[in-house]
Amino acid sequence: MMFFRHTHGLAFAGVLSALATFPRVQADTTVIPSTSFSSYSTFESYWAYLYPWGSDHNGSARMKGSSSDHSNIVIASNTLSLIATPTSNPSPPTSSSNPHPAIHYASGAVHAKSQITVTQANSYTISGEFSASTAKGTWPAFWLTAVNGWPPEADIGEWKGTTNNWFNTFNTSSIVRSDLVTWPSDLSFHSLKAVLTAQPNNVDVKLQFYMDNTLRATQYGQGFVGKPMWLIINLQMEGSSGSPGPTGTTTYKARNVVVTRTGS
Ligand SMILES: *[C@@H]1O[C@H](CO)[C@@H](O)[C@H](O)[C@H]1NC(C)=O
Ligand SMILES: *[C@@H]1O[C@H](CO)[C@@H](O)[C@H](O)[C@H]1NC(C)=O
Repeated sequence: MMFFRHTHGLAFAGVLSALATFPRVQADTTVIPSTSFSSYSTFESYWAYLYPWGSDHNGSARMKGSSSDHSNIVIASNTLSLIATPTSNPSPPTSSSNPHPAIHYASGAVHAKSQITVTQANSYTISGEFSASTAKGTWPAFWLTAVNGWPPEADIGEWKGTTNNWFNTFNTSSIVRSDLVTWPSDLSFHSLKAVLTAQPNNVDVKLQFYMDNTLRATQYGQGFVGKPMWLIINLQMEGSSGSPGPTGTTTYKARNVVVTRTGS
């Protein structure tokens, strides 16, 4: 008798714990679907042209593109191509962003219309496949940066003119963790993924970085919880990737970019 009572007690406890966990089962929300590069109209519903702040940043490329100008930002075959070409006589001649480098290229940048804010009630998975130049003077990136102030910044893909991808998390402008993974120079596509989760202190964010579905680095962003971030894909040039950059055309491709939010 004791045996049966005990068994029933365990079974009852099991039902209770199943009920208790049920409300914590969190649905996934697709913030950006894998089809976002299927046409210009689909692209424009999820992405905006250029950087959130305009055309210039801290390299020698000035970004160019709009719904009526697709010379540097091209959507075809479910792929986004960002194309950098040398320019002459740009006006104005230098970047409007620090440290105001001379402009040598016209290129492309896009940013997700949805901002990414990690909270204790959610987590984000951000992934995609990239064909990225590792040539000197080419500086492609797939990255998150603060909407207000700076940092947060986290770089899921950043290639700085060598055969490495840099996974970076910035706590401050000078306190940064970087983990380098070897990246082939043959322009083959490889996948990158970041999973962002709030730490139990509800202040810091854990970032798990994957290349080709293998966990390659885990970093922590101080105070990233609750801070909105932009997701940017851009082909900057020179700057951190060295100079001079290529005299010909450079193309950076992204496909199957997906952003999923678990929770609210
Ligand atoms: C950034 O801050 C987090 C949270 O305090 C810490 O775990 C991490 O080590 C810091 N990163 C660096 C590079 O100091
Ligand atoms: C350029 O800006 C990016 C993003 O804010 C930052 O990670 C990088 O350190 C800056 N590099 C230079 C050379 O200014």
